[in-house]
Amino acid sequence: MSHPSGPAGPAFGQTVSQAAPLLRVLSGETREKPPLWMMRQAGRYLPEYRALREKAGSFLDLCYDPEKAAEVTLQPIRRFGFDAAILFSDILVVPDALGQRVRFLEGEGPQLDPLTPETGLAPLAGELDAERLAPVYETVRMVRAALPPQVALIGFAGAPWTVASYMVAGRSTPDQAPARLFAYTHPVLFGALVDRLVDATASHLLRQVEAGAQVLQIFESFAGALPPPLFRRWSLEPVSRIVSRIRARYPAIPVIVFARGAGAGVEELAQSGIADGVGLDWTIDPWRASDAIQVHRPVQGNLDPLALVAGGDVLARAVDDIRAALGGGPHVFNLGHGILPQTPIAHVEQLVARVRG
Ligand code: CP3
Repeated sequence: MSHPSGPAGPAFGQTVSQAAPLLRVLSGETREKPPLWMMRQAGRYLPEYRALREKAGSFLDLCYDPEKAAEVTLQPIRRFGFDAAILFSDILVVPDALGQRVRFLEGEGPQLDPLTPETGLAPLAGELDAERLAPVYETVRMVRAALPPQVALIGFAGAPWTVASYMVAGRSTPDQAPARLFAYTHPVLFGALVDRLVDATASHLLRQVEAGAQVLQIFESFAGALPPPLFRRWSLEPVSRIVSRIRARYPAIPVIVFARGAGAGVEELAQSGIADGVGLDWTIDPWRASDAIQVHRPVQGNLDPLALVAGGDVLARAVDDIRAALGGGPHVFNLGHGILPQTPIAHVEQLVARVRG
């Protein structure tokens, strides 16, 4: 299966044949062995992460410490030889740098002072605080300098809807009800928030590219909470504006969009041409994805993170099924969501051997 409308090519100064496997697949190439990385690959399942994390203070302190963040980004590459490194940071550095300070309390997840119809956007700055985010871009520079050329560096940001859902609720919520209700009852104000996030997110991603990121991923982790018309309005549309800004400056930088739980919305995303690569969560049937999504765009995914926790035959069969369904076209092997902290290292080793073997 070829890539009909030819998305972004390899990074600057590289011909396609020299480019890292991830870049080649995102430009439409089918490879016998897919490039492999895992969402949340730097994290608590790794003993070396836990050791460094203990010395780093708060989670955000770690995100804003370039030496430590670069080290943590590189840990899974050293251990498993993945085809891509993803910047160690968080989607919530964007509200933090807009002045809505974020706290991560141990075991409780993120906390922000919620935006309300009364506060409106008053607590937010017009633009990102460049100084606050400077260490993030420094991390990107350090990681790129340390990586071998065949390993691609991925920068990322949250999509406006997902980030806005934290800014409105002030915390993780099971179905993003506070933000959904806000969007229904105050659509003009919610639209202004989304516009602010489009600007901030585009600028954050462009700066990551300037610092050395070669691929970008946009996490729409809460796509599944939106009914289809709202998915178009609050997800596809703003994400498309962000991608247009990136394409205008860096047409060769591929953008992967991971819209978790979007269901048929993922097919719309693939047809729309907004994304160069389409992330698949684990609920999507890879055979259907081959017919309905991979014909339009390279795909990435979609092993159930719990199949990786289970390991053994369960894992082997799940990997083989995904390869059988998606191996005929451009495919980046990944999980269908982030790796879970309880995942045994031996199972990740089994995954790498199975995908590459
Ligand atoms: O993938 C990577 O290895 C890169 C780093 C990365 C992190 N978060 C590190 C992190 C990335 C890409 C993210 C994205 C992110 N952050 C998302 C979108 C992806 C997804 O999982 O759906 C979301 C929704 C967040 C917000 C967030 N960050 C939450 C809800 C939490 C707390 C929940 C938890 O797992 O504890 C975080 C914290 C966080 N971000 C951790 C890591 C490694 C764990 C914090 C710790 O080490 O104490």
